[in-house]
Amino acid sequence: MAVERFKYDFILHWIWSAVFGLMLLTGLALLGPKYGWVLGYNLGLADYLHRTLAVIFTILFLIEIVLEIRRRITSRQKRAPWLVVGKGGFALLTFIAAQLLIISGVLMWLCIDDNHAVLALASVIHETVTYVMVVGVVWHLFEKSYVLILLGGGRR
Ligand code: HEM
Ligand code: HEM
Repeated sequence: MAVERFKYDFILHWIWSAVFGLMLLTGLALLGPKYGWVLGYNLGLADYLHRTLAVIFTILFLIEIVLEIRRRITSRQKRAPWLVVGKGGFALLTFIAAQLLIISGVLMWLCIDDNHAVLALASVIHETVTYVMVVGVVWHLFEKSYVLILLGGGRR
């Protein structure tokens, strides 16, 4: 069927990685003095972009979960290799990290003006997961960089 040949997971991976990369940059800028240089200390822009992208990020994540559930129910295709839902490796790391970032992000969003205890806890989780994912994404790029080598010299 044409629908099954449509490489939805491939397309979603590239939208996801662009959004994820921008979330990392704007998130690091939001940490303030330490990494503000990432966006030229324009914290207003970083905040605006981060929150707008957060909505897109959450929607993408839900779409990927629905696609994986649909695939498991119909069980016609084998696992879509580019999706973030997986039982191991970088997919599992990304899956857990995305959940933690979304939950702590929503808590920060809701508590930023009043409940400072929750805000502090959510910030620590949000920030720690960010550092883990910076290392994770660098590793992922290193591991998969062969796909970027289009002309000769690549492993595939
Ligand atoms: C230029 C940057 C990137 C390149 C070249 C790249 C390349 C790849 C490749 C080749 C695969 C494997 C597909 C297969 O097994 O057939 C993959 C899977 C994946 N990518 Fe990326 N990627 C990039 C950026 C990102 C970013 C920023 C994220 C964000 C977290 C990400 C998340 C994932 C995940 C979760 C998988 C599934 C891994 C698994 O099944 O274990 N990628 N990527
Ligand atoms: C790839 C995913 C994400 C990364 C790497 C990331 C990273 C960060 C970082 C490093 C900060 C600064 C934390 C601090 O000041 O202690 C931040 C702030 C924030 N993030 Fe995220 N985040 C991500 C996704 C999300 C999502 C999905 C949401 C909401 C659902 C969200 C909501 C927020 C909010 C509300 C703030 C506080 C903004 C402010 O200071 O005004 N983030 N993020």
